[in-house]
Amino acid sequence: MSLFIKKPLDQLMNQAGDSEKGLKRTLTATNLVALGIGAIIGAGLFVRTAAAASEAAGPAVVISFVIAAVGCAFAGLCYAEFASMIPIAGSAYTYAYATMGEFIAWIIGWALVLEYALGAATVSIAWSEYLNKLLNGAIPYSLSHSPLEGGIINLPALLILAILTAVLIKGTQESASLNAIIVFVKVAIVLLFIVIGWGFINPANYEPFTIPAGTPGHDTFREFGWGGVVGGASIVFFAFIGFDAVSTAAQEAKNPKRDMPIGILGSLVVCTILYILFSHVLTGIANWTEFKTAGKEASVAYAIETYMHGYGWLATAITVAILAGFSSVILVMLLGQSRVFFSMANDGLLPKVFSDLHPKFRTPYKSNIILFFFVGAFAAFIPGSMAGDLTSIGTLFAFAVVCIGVWVLRVKNPELKRPFKTPLVPLVPILGVIVCTALIVYVDSRTQLVAGAWMLIGFVVYFGYSKKNSTLRK
Ligand code: ALA
Repeated sequence: MSLFIKKPLDQLMNQAGDSEKGLKRTLTATNLVALGIGAIIGAGLFVRTAAAASEAAGPAVVISFVIAAVGCAFAGLCYAEFASMIPIAGSAYTYAYATMGEFIAWIIGWALVLEYALGAATVSIAWSEYLNKLLNGAIPYSLSHSPLEGGIINLPALLILAILTAVLIKGTQESASLNAIIVFVKVAIVLLFIVIGWGFINPANYEPFTIPAGTPGHDTFREFGWGGVVGGASIVFFAFIGFDAVSTAAQEAKNPKRDMPIGILGSLVVCTILYILFSHVLTGIANWTEFKTAGKEASVAYAIETYMHGYGWLATAITVAILAGFSSVILVMLLGQSRVFFSMANDGLLPKVFSDLHPKFRTPYKSNIILFFFVGAFAAFIPGSMAGDLTSIGTLFAFAVVCIGVWVLRVKNPELKRPFKTPLVPLVPILGVIVCTALIVYVDSRTQLVAGAWMLIGFVVYFGYSKKNSTLRK
C-alpha cells in the first residue's frame, strides 16, 4: 500500500464528533486566545529582543518583529483554515494526514516534537536563569547549567517541568484557568513597561537606526544594515512560536469552527502589537550596544534599573511576571506535544500508551509522564540556545508544510466546507513557504545537521514500527 495513504476526511470528522470516547470540550474563544498568548509571549520577547538588537538589527529590531510577524501571519492564515475545517487534536500532523498522506504526516508529527518538546525545554532553561536572578544567584552554577556549559545538571528547569506536568495531568480546564491568570499578569506587566517606559525613551538611542557597516563584530551580511534586520527576524522568530499550539486543542474547543480562527489569529495580532511597542521602548530606554555588555542578561530588568530611577519595584515585578509567563509557555508546549502524540497513537503510528486517558481526569497522563522524562533530559543536559534553534527549525518546517497542505486540499477537494478560508490562495501559502524556507536557511548549520539526524531517526521508527501498526492500513 502507498506510503502516501490518506486518512478520509469524513473519518476524521466522525472522530472529532465522537466526544464520548474523546477529550472534554470545555474551551471557549477567550480561552483559546489566552491559550495562544500563553504559548507565545515568553523567552522570545524577554530574552531574544535584546539579543537580536545587539547581534544583528540595532534599534531596527522593531522592524525584525514586523518581518517575523508577516511570515507567521501567512502560516497563521493557513493554520486557521485547517483548524476550522478539521477540528481535531494534533494540528499540522492531522492536516497532513488528510491531505498529503501518512508518510508526510509522520514527518510533520516528528518535526513537531522539535517544536513542542524542545520548545518546552528551551523555556524551562530560561526559567531557571531568571529564577537564579531573582534569588541573586543563590543556586550553584553547576546545578543550574548543562554539562556543555561547564555545569552538571539544570535542576530548576527539571523542577518547573515536573510541576507543570502534574498540572497538566489534572486536567485541561484547570490548566486553562491557571493559564488565564498567568496570561493576565504577563500582558499587564508588558503594558506597564510600555506605558511607564515610554516617558524614559531617549531619541538619541534610535540613531543610527540600523547597525552601520564596519561596526566591529558585525562582519557578515546578516549582522548589520538591513541584512541585520532580516537576521534579527530569524532571531526573534522564536517569540512567535506557539500560536499554532491553539490548533492542537481543537478537539477540546466548544465551537471549533468559529473559535479556532479567532484563537489563532487573535493571539497572533495581540502579540505582534505588544512586541512592536515593547521592542521600541526597550531600545529607546537603553542603547542597543549595552545589550552586548552590562545588559546582556535580564535585559529588561537592566534597562529599568539603569535608566528608570525610582522604578526598582518594576524590575522585580517584571522578573516575577517573566517567571510566571515562562511557565504558561511551557504548559502550552507540553499540552501541545501530548495532544500530537495522542493523535498519532490513536492512528496506531505510536504505541497506545500515548493515547491512554486517565480514568478520572481524562487526560493522556501516561504520555505526560513519558514526556516529562524526554523533555527533562534536554532541559537538564543541553544549553538553551541549542534547544531554541532546534525549536525554530522544527517549527518553520511544520509551518511550510501546513501552507502547502492548504493549497493541495483546495485543488484536490474544492467542494469541502471551509468555515474559515485562507485569503488569496495560492499567493498566501506560497509567500508563507518562501518566508519559512528563507528563515530555515538562516538557521546555523550545526542546528540543520542535528535536525536532519532527528528526521533520520524518525524514518527508522516509521518503517520499523509505525507503518506496520497503522490503524488506517488495517
Ligand atoms: N514564543 C515562545 C517564547 O517566546 C516560545 O518563549
